[in-house]
Amino acid sequence: MKFETQVVHAGDRKRERGTAIPSTTPIHLATTYFYETAEQLDRIFGHEEEGPSYARYDNPTNSALEELTTALENGHGSLATCSGMTALQIAFQAALLDRPHSIVSSSSIYGATVKLLDQVMAPFEVNVKYVDMSDLAAVEKAIAAEKPGCVFLESISNPLLRVADIPQIAAMTRAAGAARVIDNTFASPMLLRPLDLGANIVVHSATKYLAGHGDVLGGVIVSDAENHENVRMLSRISGGTLGPFESYLTMRGIKTLALRYERQCQNARKLAACLSSHPSVERVHYCADPQHPDAATIKELFAPGLFGAILAFEIKDADKAAVLRFMTRLKMIVPGTSLGDVHTLLLYPAMSSHRDIAPKTRERMGIREDLVRVAAGIEAVEDIYADLDSALRGV
Ligand SMILES: Cc1ncc(COP(=O)(O)O)c(C=O)c1O
Repeated sequence: MKFETQVVHAGDRKRERGTAIPSTTPIHLATTYFYETAEQLDRIFGHEEEGPSYARYDNPTNSALEELTTALENGHGSLATCSGMTALQIAFQAALLDRPHSIVSSSSIYGATVKLLDQVMAPFEVNVKYVDMSDLAAVEKAIAAEKPGCVFLESISNPLLRVADIPQIAAMTRAAGAARVIDNTFASPMLLRPLDLGANIVVHSATKYLAGHGDVLGGVIVSDAENHENVRMLSRISGGTLGPFESYLTMRGIKTLALRYERQCQNARKLAACLSSHPSVERVHYCADPQHPDAATIKELFAPGLFGAILAFEIKDADKAAVLRFMTRLKMIVPGTSLGDVHTLLLYPAMSSHRDIAPKTRERMGIREDLVRVAAGIEAVEDIYADLDSALRGV
């Protein structure tokens, strides 16, 4: 099935015979389940037969969502989690379970992921080394020096939209025996599928493009055959599974992912073009820019004609007070955090996603005080631009 068909049908209908079989996946709230006999339940607890036994292990609504995300990312299996951060934590733990406790991570990642690595993983004797993933020589050197159990990057980095050469990095790490964990939140499986490019574990903040409507907090881990059982084992013990209602909403959201994401990409491209010549804009970061530092990799990896739905720009001569004034003046765009919703969102990294990173480190990461990030929604692009333009003119 093509992607546009998979998003609508995968995981949903089993085509069972019977009376009043629901045509979409119901919300299963039960935490335990009846079976024909206790012997059958015994087989299910023993993993000799498939089926849910307890809601922390399995739930039919979650299973349907997991089947869907496995199909979209072309993986072996999925786990739906209660947030993107939980998905990342379980993914790192699964990757390091039978491997050296050392992670080589991209230096250009979501601020909370830096904190997860530095404040949650590192105190448990996990060595963490950051590297510029667009510099392949530096990556090779770091892998040789650190001998990591895991290499981590975001397929499109947050917030500067850097795109690393996943197949090259996968080839380097494969030889070293390290697992490749990739956060595919910004790209969505519509733009690229990391498992097809050599990743072992793909993570999503399902809060973003998958659910897509700003009303779900969730995450997804899609793994290859080698890592999937470890992922499920960790969540069976520690929990962190997604609730059935959020699972239902995520599945419902994914049905329109192809339509939404295509429109959001078109809007982002038009916004980037208009903002490039705006008198109050210093510089625009967007993946369609021929001058983008990773333009060759983008051409190689992205689905034809799509360049992602997120852009970032620097406001000319703006300090924090000026950026906040600009955000307050927005009338339609939501000036908060998050991304991937049907409505356009604007985020100020220095205030939110990267707030707790020391200003000097932030500057080194290229995240300046005048930088804002826009996640294009599905509205008419003229209205999104008019809102940005009028807010910029007041700064
Ligand atoms: C790239 C990326 N990964 C992971 C997360 C964490 O997801 P969640 O907020 O669902 O825990 C975010 C949140 O903004 C993100 O931008």
